[in-house]
Formats: sequence, C-alpha cells, structure tokens
Amino acid sequence: LQKEEVEVTFVRANGERITAKGKVGDSLLDVVVNNHIDFDGFGACEGTLTCSTCHLIFAKPDFDKLPDKPSDEELDMLDLAFDLTETSRLGCQICLSKDMNGLEVKVPATVNDARS
Ligand code: FES
Repeated sequence: LQKEEVEVTFVRANGERITAKGKVGDSLLDVVVNNHIDFDGFGACEGTLTCSTCHLIFAKPDFDKLPDKPSDEELDMLDLAFDLTETSRLGCQICLSKDMNGLEVKVPATVNDARS
C-alpha cells in the first residue's frame, strides 16, 4: 500500500468479500465507484444525500471511531434505508482516514431508493 492508500473490505449479504483500495479523503461511495464494484443500485444519487442506497453497516467499534456524527440530513435518509441498524451510516458521507485501513463494512442485501 502506498502512503495515502487505505484498504477497505465490503462484505455482501451473501458473505462474498470484496477488498478494495481508496485514498485518504475518498468517501466509501468513491471507493465503490472508483473500483467499479457492482453493488446493485448502490450510490444512486451520487453522494447528494437523497437516496439512502449507499447504506453500509459498521461493526460497533468501527462505528464508534468514526470522526463525524451523522448530519440531520443523513439521519433522515438513513431512516429510509433498507435493513437499518444501530451502526448504519451512508457510505457517501464517510471519508477515509489513514486509521481506517483494514476496515470491514457490510453491504445490505438490497437498497431502498428514497427517490422512488
Ligand atoms: Fe445517495 Fe449516499 S449515494 S445518499
């Protein structure tokens, strides 16, 4: 890994694991898009906080370490997400930092596009 690179593993509902690299400052949505990872419907609003399809589920310790608390707009969108959990966030709102290297996040089985 280069200095600015962070490795993230996405775990699909069927158990499939996809490890991808992003750069510090990229959002988790950027990592999915830039690595051409095909999650059906994921990131439909391209990070404009209007769809909830970029919903990801964190392990509790990772969730607690996230630097930024969700904004009201993110919380409103999360309410509409499929399979919401206590450790859910929207991937387009989470930016990579160096200490997130090795992070694992779960990708819910499907998406709810809040726009439809
Ligand atoms: Fe639509 Fe994150 S990509 S809310």
